[in-house]
Amino acid sequence: MKPDAESIPNKINAPKQIRGGFDDRVVDFHLIHNQKTEDVRVFIDIIDSKPNDVILDGMDGYGAVAREILDTTEPKGFQPEIYTVDESVVQVERARQNMPDVQEDHLVQADIRNMPFEDKKFNTVIIKMGIHELPKSAQPDILKEVSRVLKPGGKFVTWELSFPDEASQVIFQDIIRKKDELAGFNRLVENRYFPRQDELLKLFADAGFEKVEVAHKVDAKLSMRVREQELVSKERKQIMSEEGTLTAEKEKELAELGKERCDQLVAFIKEYMSRVPESIRKQMEYYESENDTFLSPNKDIILGYKPESV
Ligand SMILES: C[S@@+](CC[C@H](N)C(=O)[O-])C[C@H]1O[C@@H](n2cnc3c(N)ncnc32)[C@H](O)[C@@H]1O
Repeated sequence: MKPDAESIPNKINAPKQIRGGFDDRVVDFHLIHNQKTEDVRVFIDIIDSKPNDVILDGMDGYGAVAREILDTTEPKGFQPEIYTVDESVVQVERARQNMPDVQEDHLVQADIRNMPFEDKKFNTVIIKMGIHELPKSAQPDILKEVSRVLKPGGKFVTWELSFPDEASQVIFQDIIRKKDELAGFNRLVENRYFPRQDELLKLFADAGFEKVEVAHKVDAKLSMRVREQELVSKERKQIMSEEGTLTAEKEKELAELGKERCDQLVAFIKEYMSRVPESIRKQMEYYESENDTFLSPNKDIILGYKPESV
């Protein structure tokens, strides 16, 4: 049995070596993931919040999913009790600003693998684009912990990269690793593992989830040009923390640096993809324009239930 979040609000328990990346990566996830309204609607339908539900949005960033749940249930005349968990101080602060209507002690700073919640607290746990943030060897611990905090019969829903084969997994991992290197997100370079669909399904099975289902394929066409701001997010954060403001001149310098890095990224991808067989390029829906590249990594919404008997 673990203590409840109310008794230890905003507990910082993430191991030092995995902290850092998302304190610097201040981006609009909606924009860089090119998220579609229709996919979000399907996700919210699958989550299917009920009055009196206690829901956890895990690895929530600025709480976009939690926000969506609250905004879509309010017109129906109810609000589930929402908690969020993220290990990054900066993201928890963003969540606080995004959800002034959620009690502050429900916006918890913690490692998803070691949450300060008692067993069997939640009806539903959600993790959107989070599992891949941890190394492959650590991903089973996420689902074990999610299962621990779910009520018997409770539901786990994830929206995650979910590659059909090793080739597309490796290609996407190499491309995003290059982007993270250029942006100076060293923790992300070290930690991230983008799972294949069969690996995700095995994580669910190994953690004891039942009635596991790939419920929806997410539309995910990605442009690299939209990454210009992300590629200088670390520097922007540093200037702001040292100088407290961003002059027009500094803003211009950052924009130029972001463009330069994005040019390097696009050049890297074009060269890399020129060595990839046509059949795989086609499967990943890869194409190029003069100054951009596009590809569609597979993303799925997958759900499963904790057995009633546990
Ligand atoms: C790609 S973002 C997704 C955010 C949000 N779910 C969304 O889709 O908008 C991944 C988030 O996972 C958080 N994260 C990474 N490792 C974590 C860990 N071990 N425990 C909790 N949160 C973590 C990061 O700080 C970041 O906010």
